Amino acid sequence: MILKHLVDTQDYSKTELLDIIHLIRRIKEADRQGCTPKLLEGASLAMLFEEPSTRTRISFEVAMTELGGHSLYLKPGEIHLGARESLYDTARVIARYVDCIMARTLKHDTVVKLAQWSTVPVINGLTDFNHPTQVICDVVTMLEHAPAGKKMEDFHVTYIGDSTNLASSLMMICTQMGMHFTFGGPAKYQPPAEWRKVCEDNCKVSGGTFRVTDDPVEAVKDADFIYTDLWWWVGQEDQIPERRAAFMPKYQVNMDLFRKAPAHCKFMHCLPASRNVEATDEVMDSPNSVIFDQAENRLHTEKGLLVYFIYPNLKRPSSELQAYHKGEIEAFLEKKLF
Ligand code: CP
Repeated sequence: MILKHLVDTQDYSKTELLDIIHLIRRIKEADRQGCTPKLLEGASLAMLFEEPSTRTRISFEVAMTELGGHSLYLKPGEIHLGARESLYDTARVIARYVDCIMARTLKHDTVVKLAQWSTVPVINGLTDFNHPTQVICDVVTMLEHAPAGKKMEDFHVTYIGDSTNLASSLMMICTQMGMHFTFGGPAKYQPPAEWRKVCEDNCKVSGGTFRVTDDPVEAVKDADFIYTDLWWWVGQEDQIPERRAAFMPKYQVNMDLFRKAPAHCKFMHCLPASRNVEATDEVMDSPNSVIFDQAENRLHTEKGLLVYFIYPNLKRPSSELQAYHKGEIEAFLEKKLF
């Protein structure tokens, strides 16, 4: 058993992330020609969700089906997820049934513990800290929309808004890959010192750059990609008036701000969006918007990730061994039951 988990992209080197991205793009190419290989025949994926989801749930489920496997959608109230049974026992038990666990949890520590205790790979489908599957997908999307003549290490990526889970993951993967990352947001919602240190350390290895500013115009002036996301999250509803006042109108990605970036700049948003709040319809539906390519790429990304984590551990018995066991079982049935 090769027991690797995807809890954080920081657990992987740039080379390993590039391998995963190559696999995703290769499977997407096969899919384009209707040739998705059934690499996960007979495999099962448990999908644990403590929060709602459209993209993550559908893309993982469809990815498993198209790869020949099966998925189970499991939510609190339907299974013992930290209630009536310890998380340790639940992780150990689920791992005896399935080949991989994908979990979206309210607290990051829950995914960390699942990975610690599970005996099959665990994939983080979003926590209150990070969203690794989304940002791997985002790098795939950026590579597909690379500005003419630029390689990945030349990309300038600007995030405008709040530094919660999506932004934390994005700044980390961009600096791991050697890109030039700028965060633009009000002081209170900027990344904390420990995340900045991770990004700065990434840049020392990768040759990328990392900066933080409260000036959105300065932040977008060299951007190849402008990314934004929701200004408030599940559990932050009581903060909506304060957050809206901090971000609106200065940090809204509208045409006035978008036009301050180079003409080729693309707009990104992982969705779901609050339209005309963090970004306007005009930007989200403009020819420079790649938001629906991002959403589609979740499906291709999940396929690559599932193959990467599950395929190496699947048993591949010889046809002779399969025939032997089938024969033994049929002989028993013949003798005892008919
Ligand atoms: N981007 C994303 O994770 O979307 P869902 O919340 O719909 O899964």
